[in-house]
Amino acid sequence: MTVSVGPTPVDPMRDGSAPANTTTATTQTLRPHAEDAFAAELAALAARDDRPRPARWRLSPWAVATYLLGGTLPDGTVITPKYVGPRRIVEVAVTTLATDRALLLLGVPGTAKTWVSEHLAAAVSGDSTLLVQGTAGTPEEAIRYGWNYARLLAHGPSRDALVPSPVMRAMAEGMTARVEELTRIPADVQDSLITILSEKTLPIPELGQEVQAVRGFNLIATANDRDRGVNDLSSALRRRFNTVVLPLPETPEAEVDIVARRVDQIGRSLDLPAVPDGIDEIRRVVTVFRELRDGVTADGRTRLKSPSGTLSTAEAISVVTGGLALAAHFGDGVLRAGDVAAGILGAVVRDPAADRVVWQEYLETVVRERDGWKDFYRACREAGA
Ligand SMILES: Nc1ncnc2c1ncn2[C@@H]1O[C@H](COP(=O)(O)OP(=O)(O)O)[C@@H](O)[C@H]1O
Ligand SMILES: [Mg+2]
Repeated sequence: MTVSVGPTPVDPMRDGSAPANTTTATTQTLRPHAEDAFAAELAALAARDDRPRPARWRLSPWAVATYLLGGTLPDGTVITPKYVGPRRIVEVAVTTLATDRALLLLGVPGTAKTWVSEHLAAAVSGDSTLLVQGTAGTPEEAIRYGWNYARLLAHGPSRDALVPSPVMRAMAEGMTARVEELTRIPADVQDSLITILSEKTLPIPELGQEVQAVRGFNLIATANDRDRGVNDLSSALRRRFNTVVLPLPETPEAEVDIVARRVDQIGRSLDLPAVPDGIDEIRRVVTVFRELRDGVTADGRTRLKSPSGTLSTAEAISVVTGGLALAAHFGDGVLRAGDVAAGILGAVVRDPAADRVVWQEYLETVVRERDGWKDFYRACREAGA
């Protein structure tokens, strides 16, 4: 017997407030969901999109890829790029979602796995909120279903007492479910996904029922290949996924572009004043991060030790955002070396003993000698004092 999951449980954050798609929700929410923040772009794409759409998709695969990578529509509507990286990666990710295989986004921290997963779900299903956050403590109920114990005790097991997981809701409604940090979830809990992904059904033995996935259902999982390996996925589960590896930005220019774009977006959402001349400082943060990450200076001449942190693009974004806030509130409105120095130090020196040595060596042998970096050298010395 097949059952439907019933009305979507009320999201406490949204209860009583305006519907998610209104401007009120977008302007007052600290961090609107992708489908709300980019509602206008999604609507423009849907209106112009005449290519075939898989069952229950809001857009065609082509339009989903355009939403992620950016572009200009025939009528001049500009779609901003969300992901900056190889087009093929996005195309493979999107087409995977149109097949019967689930999508696994893999990469080191800060390579936009979560970001891409959210935007894919927003573009494909118009809803990025059917999300399970994976941790060492994620229980099976978070992936399958739980019970409302008051109702369970009062009336026994019934549909009314059942609390569906985001995955169950996605199955019943033909939507995209998301599982974050899949490899942090204990192996036996991960395995509850096997039946869901292979048989496309979720049995409810207590009721003698099942929820069968409706067409349009699929799942996007993310996993860090630095924390713990993909080996932690059982081979049975791994076979249900197409794996797409998100790389670190290939060139410094690409990374500067990503940081500048995101900082601009974040700055606007935080009402930070625009800082026009920030690009030089962004370039410097990215250079420092890349050199320390790669263990060699940009000119290839000097070998360096790498610190223990990941120094990802995402961290460069937060260092620059923090610097912008300093410049705006306590500086003269121009992003300067002194505004990013403390942030860089905090990102680089994670382990107080070992990383400090690495940083000091970099500072004295590379930063100090570099033309035009005197102000930065001084600011870092002061931040480290
Ligand atoms: N290639 C990229 N294109 C666009 N944004 C990126 C890219 N790499 C990193 N970012 C930015 O980095 C931030 C953090 O990414 P996130 O998705 O949390 O990383 P992950 O889940 O891989 O650890 C996001 O704000 C995202 O915009
Ligand atoms: Mg993530």
